Amino acid sequence: MERLQREIFERFEQYGQMQIFRFWEELNADERLNLCRQADQINLLHFSEIVNSLIDREKKSLRSDTPLLPAHYISLPSDETSSYRWEEAYNVGEQVLSEGRVAVFTAAGGQGTRLGFEGPKGAFAVTPVKRKSLFQIFAEKIRFAEKRYGHYIHWFIMTSDRNHNETIEFFGKNNSFGLSNVHFIRQGLLPAVTMGGKIMLEDKGRIAMHPDGHGGAFKAFVASGANAMLEAKGIDTISYFQVDNPLVPVIDSYFIGFHEKNRSRMSSRTILKAYPEEKVGIFCVLYGRSAVIEYSDLPIERAIERDRSGTLRFKTGNAGIHIFDRDFFSLLGNEMSGRPLPLHKAKKKIPTIDEDGKVIDPDVPNGIKFETFIFDALQFAERSIIVEGNRKEIFSPLKNSMGLDSPETCRQDQIRLFSKWLVKAGSDIPIDAKGLPPFNIEVSPLFADNERDFLSKWNDLEKRPAISSGSYIS
Ligand code: UTP
Repeated sequence: MERLQREIFERFEQYGQMQIFRFWEELNADERLNLCRQADQINLLHFSEIVNSLIDREKKSLRSDTPLLPAHYISLPSDETSSYRWEEAYNVGEQVLSEGRVAVFTAAGGQGTRLGFEGPKGAFAVTPVKRKSLFQIFAEKIRFAEKRYGHYIHWFIMTSDRNHNETIEFFGKNNSFGLSNVHFIRQGLLPAVTMGGKIMLEDKGRIAMHPDGHGGAFKAFVASGANAMLEAKGIDTISYFQVDNPLVPVIDSYFIGFHEKNRSRMSSRTILKAYPEEKVGIFCVLYGRSAVIEYSDLPIERAIERDRSGTLRFKTGNAGIHIFDRDFFSLLGNEMSGRPLPLHKAKKKIPTIDEDGKVIDPDVPNGIKFETFIFDALQFAERSIIVEGNRKEIFSPLKNSMGLDSPETCRQDQIRLFSKWLVKAGSDIPIDAKGLPPFNIEVSPLFADNERDFLSKWNDLEKRPAISSGSYIS
């Protein structure tokens, strides 16, 4: 311990961050050890450089004359040629899946502040009839795929310190929803700093640390040994999504097929913006490189810009759904690769202590938190593609407790999709102008999780169930 302490003190002294040891004399042996362990996790060189360069700089949106071009994307099939391309991709995807080359990765380390739910967001009950949790939906989609392709599928769930144990408990209580290859990997942490760049304390023996953003997926993947394990098993494709979308196609043959056919390193799903000011990140080409621009950084004149035909120029919204080449995923997780993701900063209210050790619960932002974003990996991908998805079929984010992107919109979006499948299959279920029946219905992912599978399963049924309030098709 003494050697570790000496080394750490020297390092923190060198970077002018000794204030975190201000209360050292008051700490007992265990508290000292814990503080040293926390401090040891911080890569001061990398962190300090970025922090110093960011600290005084106010976040700037792009200027309206920044060279920005719309991203090219593969659009949904609209004619015979494009339908043929999609069908071809589907077959390639099916082949990759039957070779057992795909693993699933879910980013579930967020704090879900806006939803205000006690517990991991993935444990939130979201389906209309059975009140299944997000985690259960994804688990059932994976079980369906395991049965179909005849392979176990490895599922990595990225948690953070704040929800790791609760997430594991939730899966334990539910017998992992019948899956046998679920792995929990903890994402890294980054320290919060004062507006002047000094690392903050949460209490006398603890640094104020927070999860390093969904971009932490890469490091967590390598550090946890997940990459080595998949490499040994010949699994080279990662289906990535975020925990807050009940409609997400967890395993999507079309998307996997396009990724494979294009030898892409990182593929992304886009949903076209519903209206010009919609708060979604936009895929585009910035200074000749693919990038996602956050909605808050896109000048309004670009957000509403239209081309000659009247369509929005910057319309390709980011759905947070990607396929990665495993090699590329692990390359970004390797600290020595020379490809560090940029840190994004946000001013926040950070509970802390003052110089006398008195607790401060601020009413206004008093410090800065840093995060990395998964989509920033795009700039490092030599080959990348963007594939359109139908918003109503793949995207229904759960962010807020009420209003937009809330449990209620998720419930409606699910029912709307299930009803659409039923109508296509010939059912005479009553539907209003919003595409909704006057009651709750639900389709189990173990029956089908997309229209194609639903129609084929439904048509094969010897006896089709009558659909009424509370119907559950399983
Ligand atoms: P959000 O940006 O919506 O954040 O995360 P959040 O923490 O879930 O919710 P708020 O902002 O506190 O209300 C988008 C996705 O990225 C994951 C989240 O779990 C969610 O699936 N995420 C976010 C991580 O895995 N780690 C992080 O550090 C941040």
